[in-house]
Amino acid sequence: MDEIINSQGFETLCIHGGHKTESNHAHLTPIYASSTYTFDSAEHGAALFSGKEKGYIYGRFGNPTINEAEERIALMEAYGLKDRQGKPLLLKAILHSSGMAAITTMLLSNVKTGDKVITHHSLYGGTQEMMDKVLPALGITAIQIDFKDPGKVEETLKAHEGSLALMYLETPANPTLQCVDIEHLASMGKEYGLTVCVDNTFATPYLQQPFKYDVDFVMHSTTKFLNGHGTAIGGIVIGRDIEKMNTKVTKTHRLLGNNSNAFEAFLLTNGLRTFPIRMERHCSNAEQVAAYLAQHPKVEKVNYLGLSSHPDHELAKRQMKHAGAMMSFELKGGYDAGVKFIDNLELCVSATSLGTCDTLISHPASTSHVVVPAEKRLEFGITDGLIRMSVGIETVTDIINDLEQAIN
Ligand SMILES: Cc1ncc(COP(=O)(O)O)c(C=O)c1O
Repeated sequence: MDEIINSQGFETLCIHGGHKTESNHAHLTPIYASSTYTFDSAEHGAALFSGKEKGYIYGRFGNPTINEAEERIALMEAYGLKDRQGKPLLLKAILHSSGMAAITTMLLSNVKTGDKVITHHSLYGGTQEMMDKVLPALGITAIQIDFKDPGKVEETLKAHEGSLALMYLETPANPTLQCVDIEHLASMGKEYGLTVCVDNTFATPYLQQPFKYDVDFVMHSTTKFLNGHGTAIGGIVIGRDIEKMNTKVTKTHRLLGNNSNAFEAFLLTNGLRTFPIRMERHCSNAEQVAAYLAQHPKVEKVNYLGLSSHPDHELAKRQMKHAGAMMSFELKGGYDAGVKFIDNLELCVSATSLGTCDTLISHPASTSHVVVPAEKRLEFGITDGLIRMSVGIETVTDIINDLEQAIN
């Protein structure tokens, strides 16, 4: 089954991947609203619990609606890739209640008290807070350095050899869109025996497949482009070490109670069916919006990976299929101009989050990154006037017309 699916096109896989014929022949996998699953006999129950037999046990451990989303996303991340033996890459995914839950499971199943994590500047605000507060409280140190400086990375890896356990990448990063070189960093991390993981939320498996490189885990906030309609919060951890996914990662996910639920998994799976065509439109709209903003006299700066002015333009071209749908920009007039602009919007929606069909605009300094101290925000390039935009799939001229009237 996996081999047949791997030989199919990506769009086909986004619609059919992971689907199993349902006993009542429902076209779509139903929302399994059942907290527990029955055993045929005591022996059957024991076989399920011991793992000798496959099947559903208890809602916190998973259910068929959740499983379909997991299998589909694992196939999407593995699409067209081979393992070290040249066979189609097999990945295992576990759906979570949120992107943060997925990141927490991945971290806590890979690091312990006394370990160190190495990461870069500019991470999603919630992840940054994990590095600053949650990990240190557990006796785990997060070392945050500039991953654009290979000499510094090498020096840090050497200096902390033995205590460093994990390398954490987020590329492109929220909200600065800074990209880091996954191939190079993963190979450096592996040289020092680290577990390497990538938050692939902004790029999605349509634009970037970190498992092409020597990466162990990929995480997503499925709340964003994968769901695409803003209907459900979710997250996913995908891993190449199936044994570790089935044991340590599964255990941590279950014990933390980080499970998704059937309703939100259904909404996610439904969103995946249109994911590739949405991504194409998101990206082409974003290119046109970025070109419009870049020539606007009232716009100070546009951060978009598709513009040659972005410092990571060449790197993004190398490791991503398109430049994506996320951008940020600064209006001349700083904070006040930014706030006024947001209040003037008529079509584009002022809201946090990203990756929905409609264009979402936010102000990171007062919302998603408000918990990050001001000096750290500035160090990461998140100025007070920075506006973040997730370009939707509306008619592009309507998006541009709304921006134009709001700026003016
Ligand atoms: C890059 C990135 N990772 C993780 C998260 C957390 O995801 P969630 O809100 O689903 O927990 C976000 C949320 O915006 C994000 O942008």
